[in-house]
Amino acid sequence: MATYIVLLGGPGAGKGTQAKMLAQELGIPQVSTGDLFREHLSGNTELGKLAKGYMDRGELVPDQVTVDMVRERFDRPDCANGALLDGFPRTVGQAQGLAELLEEKGAELAVVPYINADSEVLLRRLAGRWTCRQCGAMYHAIFGPSRKAGVCDQCGGELYQREDDTPETQRRRMEVYSEQTAPLIEWYWSKGLLVEIDGEQTIEQVRDELLAAVRDRLSAGLERSVAG
Ligand code: AP5
Repeated sequence: MATYIVLLGGPGAGKGTQAKMLAQELGIPQVSTGDLFREHLSGNTELGKLAKGYMDRGELVPDQVTVDMVRERFDRPDCANGALLDGFPRTVGQAQGLAELLEEKGAELAVVPYINADSEVLLRRLAGRWTCRQCGAMYHAIFGPSRKAGVCDQCGGELYQREDDTPETQRRRMEVYSEQTAPLIEWYWSKGLLVEIDGEQTIEQVRDELLAAVRDRLSAGLERSVAG
């Protein structure tokens, strides 16, 4: 049975940081819609040109475009055993789109970890984020700096700050999150899928709590399917 997990949390909650580690642990790919849009942007594709305006403003790319992009991503062979979704869905419309995609595959969501952190904490994290242009590794100027400024510890690549990490765009992303994405917390809670993780701990503590919660849910699901 394929494993599909949605990682929920505000901008800067640590979704990308944790998704990389969790995906590796579980042997499924990290599917980040933000990263997919950024790949289209750097490839100068039509989708990239469309997404750029929304991303620069901190707004969401329209639902149908986003769901279609995820559908295509799911069709790649590495998603045969499932996927760890990072930054998708972000609206109730996208959540419905995802439910339809999974239904077509005869699959369902295993668990939705919600990484919860206060907005002031999130803004501090976004302000200090540095990302490797080559391998995507993430650093923070204060909470987790690279050994040499501007250079990735893992691959020696150049570190950069994202264009949508300006103070105005960060604020707009936070508003959009509260208005359009936060309702998904209640949505998934009512379906019995939500597990809240304290996102204000260190990266390692968040990872341990997240991994334990996900393993717990996956083994409970396995027991149910064996019993049924
Ligand atoms: P996206 O790239 O998804 O951005 P986001 O959701 O705003 O999330 P971030 O990537 O900014 O934060 P994160 O939670 O991954 O945190 P990170 O691990 O980097 O989306 C960008 C744009 O694309 C959107 O605005 C939209 O336009 C478009 N888009 C994407 N998906 C879409 C969708 N589904 N629908 C429509 N449009 C979409 O961590 C942040 C920093 O904090 C790092 O420096 C890290 O080192 C540090 N850090 C992490 N955890 C901790 C910790 N526990 N303690 C201390 N520091 C920490």
